[in-house]
Amino acid sequence: MAKKKNKEKTIYNLPDDVVISIQDLRVWFELKKFGFGHAGFVRAVDGVSFDLHKKEAIAIVGESGCGKTSLMKTILGLYTPREGNIIYKNEDINQYDKTQQRWFHSQIGYVQQDPFGAIAPFMTLRKILAEPLLCNGIKDKDEIERRIRKVMDEVSLTPIEDFIDKFPHMLSGGQQQRIVIARAMILQQQVMVADEPVSMLDASVRVEVLKLLEGLKETHGLSVIYITHDLSTVRYFSERIFVMYAGRLVEKAKVNDIIYNHKHPYTNALLLATSEPDAENAKVYKEIPEGEPPSLVHPPKGCRYHERCPKMIDGLCNQENPPEFEVEPDHFVSCWLYKDDI
Ligand SMILES: Nc1ncnc2c1ncn2[C@@H]1O[C@H](COP(=O)(O)OP(=O)(O)OP(=O)(O)O)[C@@H](O)[C@H]1O
Ligand code: SF4
Ligand SMILES: [Mg+2]
Repeated sequence: MAKKKNKEKTIYNLPDDVVISIQDLRVWFELKKFGFGHAGFVRAVDGVSFDLHKKEAIAIVGESGCGKTSLMKTILGLYTPREGNIIYKNEDINQYDKTQQRWFHSQIGYVQQDPFGAIAPFMTLRKILAEPLLCNGIKDKDEIERRIRKVMDEVSLTPIEDFIDKFPHMLSGGQQQRIVIARAMILQQQVMVADEPVSMLDASVRVEVLKLLEGLKETHGLSVIYITHDLSTVRYFSERIFVMYAGRLVEKAKVNDIIYNHKHPYTNALLLATSEPDAENAKVYKEIPEGEPPSLVHPPKGCRYHERCPKMIDGLCNQENPPEFEVEPDHFVSCWLYKDDI
């Protein structure tokens, strides 16, 4: 990618259809011995790259602890990466000054896993939704009220009078998550990051909330990064799926290619572990590999999946980390099985 130095800042030149570009991102957390001595790093994100396009939803799937939230919080600017770039509007967000950081936070809507923990329990819905507007310089009371009502209507918290003066604890989990979604959109954000938005909701309302997100994406042309450990929910509104394992993206492809034509042994195992999206999978796949994900403090040499992989090639997989192979157009796999001469 073309880039040039502008005094101390690097200016990038992203293609027009790319909203955010993540380049070789590494997020390591330092472990301290007795509170101060260095005891190593948790390599939560370890070399992740992808572009998010305009009006596109991508799903990042992987087991608990593989680094999904660390990746997301770093993209949101809440964690500082050890290495790599997050390019938004042709600049790395980590070279933003304080004013630009505030502006960046207003550009990305964030929907957390736990709706109740995400909203202030002592504020009414009106106050919760007014806060981002006030923080971003919108002071006109009529304008604030108009925008609150519009976004409540969009997330179907209607009749509005029944909800607007309520406190979060008076709402169901699904209604609380609608408020979190409304707040993530009230500044007319074009990008939304949703980290396990339905995993803490009752099964009966999960589909409703996913369909709401899908509708909002279509109506507003949002770009969405959707994080989940549950492959069965991605079909609702994702164009591409990225499979994450132990801090790395091991397979990236369009949804149908991941579901019906996946290549990586770990993707196969993940699909085996889910009853949906295609019940036929239950007949096709044989068994989930035994074992646990590896330590992110002392990750194994070579492919991080090799200790669980039924197709491990001794002397290669346990020695060298596989690069990313483009096995078909827009279908990328980090696995030695797809090296040409193997
Ligand atoms: N602030 C932190 N300090 C130290 N280690 C952390 C921190 N946040 C996450 N980790 C570690 O980084 C690794 C990845 O955690 P992360 O929360 O990103 O995973 P996840 O994929 O979101 O998991 P889950 O599906 O359970 O939410 C874990 O080993 C976790 O313990
Ligand atoms: S690189 Fe080797 S160990 Fe890793 S997933 Fe591919 S076959 Fe399995
Ligand atoms: Mg998480």
